[in-house]
Parts: sequence; structure tokens; C-alpha cells
Amino acid sequence: MEIEAVGYGTFRTPAGVARQAVADAIKVGYRHIDTAAVYENETEVGQGIKDSGVARKDLFVTSKLWNTERGYDKTKAAFQASLDRLDMDYLDLYLIHWPANTRQFGDQAESLNAETWRALEDLYNEGKIRAIGVSNFMPHHVEALMKTARIKPMVDQIEVHPGWTHATEIKALQAMDILVEGWAPLGGQGATVLTNPTMIEIGEKHGKSSAQVALRWSLQQGVLPLPKSTHIERMKQNADIFDFELSDAEMATISALKDLGGQSVDPDEVDY
Ligand SMILES: NC(=O)c1ccc[n+]([C@@H]2O[C@H](COP(=O)([O-])OP(=O)(O)OC[C@H]3O[C@@H](n4cnc5c(N)ncnc54)[C@H](OP(=O)(O)O)[C@@H]3O)[C@@H](O)[C@H]2O)c1
Repeated sequence: MEIEAVGYGTFRTPAGVARQAVADAIKVGYRHIDTAAVYENETEVGQGIKDSGVARKDLFVTSKLWNTERGYDKTKAAFQASLDRLDMDYLDLYLIHWPANTRQFGDQAESLNAETWRALEDLYNEGKIRAIGVSNFMPHHVEALMKTARIKPMVDQIEVHPGWTHATEIKALQAMDILVEGWAPLGGQGATVLTNPTMIEIGEKHGKSSAQVALRWSLQQGVLPLPKSTHIERMKQNADIFDFELSDAEMATISALKDLGGQSVDPDEVDY
């Protein structure tokens, strides 16, 4: 199956804004929408999709299983609840939002991830999800999952932006033939990726904004970015990244930038 190379993110898009924002995003050309149960906007995302007038089959819709719903039965129920809120009868992609980690679950973490994954595999085999994957899984979490998995994760959505590159992990995941999606590709709320002078300077050389440079830097590593904006002009700008190319030197300069903020968390250290 195919996936649109730039997705539209909806994290921190309040329910009251999400319906219009998603309809606008689709109207300006996005065909790939990324939401999650924990964003508490699935209902409005689903309404925005309907308002757009674009047929469901022409869109790629992702949602994610929240951490409180891990385990076989709970996962199946949570998936159905997401589908109901979105008012859809299938998803294009469903992800385990975060791996259960040993900090929280000790030696039960691995089996909990395995049981959650088994539910995704069954939902996939039942035809309710077109592709299944994980999010915030580092290569070692994927390797652990593969001990019992019948189906390899097709996608891993991890934090990727200048200042938080995950370069080694991206290479390892791509070597496993897993598509890496980059969340917070602009750094997310409160980051300084877009105001960084080097990012702005590189953008000026190409007649592009620092946001477009950040997104192009992701794409050129084979990472699918998921920018979020509730502003139509920015939505357009964030998708207009196919008419320029960063040089190897520019890619290296951007990759070497440090401390640009963002969430920048280690999935083995979080307590959610
Ligand atoms: N799997 C996970 O654990 C996980 C975690 C976080 C995010 N995500 C996904 O990844 C998506 C993107 O991440 P994110 O929303 O945290 O951050 P992001 O897309 O990196 O950044 C969004 C921020 O940048 C601003 N912005 C967008 N385009 C801009 C532009 N062209 N120029 C200047 N500012 C711009 C937005 O403001 P305005 O809206 O005001 O334009 C917003 O404040 C999420 O929406 C979600 O779908 C997944």
C-alpha cells in the first residue's frame, strides 16, 4: 500500500478547532491525517474528514492506542472505541502509542507489549486496519516484540527533528524495513528549531522557511514528517517541500545542531 509522504498532525489541536483544521488541511491537499485516542479529538477529526468532501478511500487515517489500554482485550475494545469516535469502519494505520517500559512494568513489560501487538495483528487479519505499527519503540523494543510477533511492525513513529535526530535508531529501523514517521518534525511546542539562525540561513539560500528546511531534512533521510498547524498558510507551506534539495553539507550541518528543545524524551524513562 502507499502512504502520503507528508502527514498532517493533530496533537494539541483542541476538539473545538480540530474539525475545521482537518477539513482545511484536506482542502489544501493533505491526504494523510494523524490522530490518537489521547488527543481527545478523534470525533472532531472524523467530522472534519467528512466535511472535506474527499472520499474516505482517498485518505490515509492513523490513530493510536493509549497507554492505559494495553493488553489483548483492552486493545481490541480501545480500537473499536477509536473507530466509533472517528465514525469509520476501518483505519489505514493503527499504532501502539508508547512501549510498556521496564521502569514501570519491570519484567512484565515485554509480555504486555507482545499481548497488545497480538491484538493489532488480529485486527489487521480481520481487515479492520490496513497497516499496523508502533510509536516511540526504539529498535530494542522492536527486537523484543519480534520474539513473538507474527507480523513485523510496518511503521514506527518516533520523535525526529533537528536537535533530536535519533540518527542511529532511524538507520536501525529502516534496516528492518520499517517506515519511520517523524513526530514533532518542527520541534513541537516551545522548541527553537524554527528560530535557529542556521536553519533560517539555510532556508534563505533556498527561498524557503526554516519550517520547510526542517521538514525537507526529515524527508531526505527517508523519514515521513507529520507537521501540525491550525493555520492554512502554514499548512500549505509545510506541504510545499518537493521543489528543493538540501546538500549533503547542509544535511550534516542541520544534523549537528544541538539543544533545540522539543519533548526529547527517552521512551524507557517515561512514566506514562
Ligand atoms: N506518537 C507520538 O508520541 C507523538 C507525539 C507528539 C506528536 N505526534 C504527532 O506528530 C504531530 C506533530 O508534532 P507536534 O504537533 O508536537 O509538533 P510540530 O508539528 O513539530 O510543531 C507544531 C508547532 O509548530 C507551529 N507551526 C506549524 N507550522 C509552522 C510553520 N510553517 N511556521 C511556524 N510555525 C509553525 C504550530 O503552530 P500553529 O498550529 O499555531 O501553526 C505548532 O505550535 C502531532 O500533531 C501528532 O500528530 C505524535
